[in-house]
Amino acid sequence: MQPYHLSEMKYLFIVLCLLSAYSQAQTLNIPTDNNSIQSGKKLFADHCSKCHEFGKQNIGPSLASITDKMPTSWLIAFIQNSQMVIRSGDPYAVFLYNEYNNMVMPEFPQLDNNQILDILAYIKDTSLDKTYTADNDTIDAH
Ligand code: HEC
Repeated sequence: MQPYHLSEMKYLFIVLCLLSAYSQAQTLNIPTDNNSIQSGKKLFADHCSKCHEFGKQNIGPSLASITDKMPTSWLIAFIQNSQMVIRSGDPYAVFLYNEYNNMVMPEFPQLDNNQILDILAYIKDTSLDKTYTADNDTIDAH
């Protein structure tokens, strides 16, 4: 193969990388439509509800308003593989892990970004319920 072709392919490769990074960044908006919220509600019930509640600590922390507290990219990475984020040395993730006595949250490699965004849509929508805010205030007062 001539060097000329090689550099063309390198260029194509870089363009493809940029495009895929761009499209991933594009999909990081938490959806607000009812279909996504309903799909997230079902995924949450199947995978998360045994450990997480809203406005109340269970085996894991309350997830009320978590979408306002943490960046979406962090939430996706943590939900897909919390141990990888903790091992990367992320100070908040390490703090949380210690707070929860090194309890390992399971990995969810089977959930893709869009499914996690649906779960976050459900969490965001559910967090609008004022009862959870009231509960959180009680927890904060301790
Ligand atoms: C077996 C219990 C368990 C299951 C199931 C589980 N989690 Fe967790 N989760 C935890 C624990 C424990 C923590 C605290 C951090 C740690 O110990 O790693 C946590 C932390 C989190 C955090 C960070 C919360 C904060 O305050 O910053 C998010 C977000 C989260 N989980 C989302 C989810 C979602 C979404 C699902 C379902 C796809 C899920 N978790 C399933 C136990 C669980």
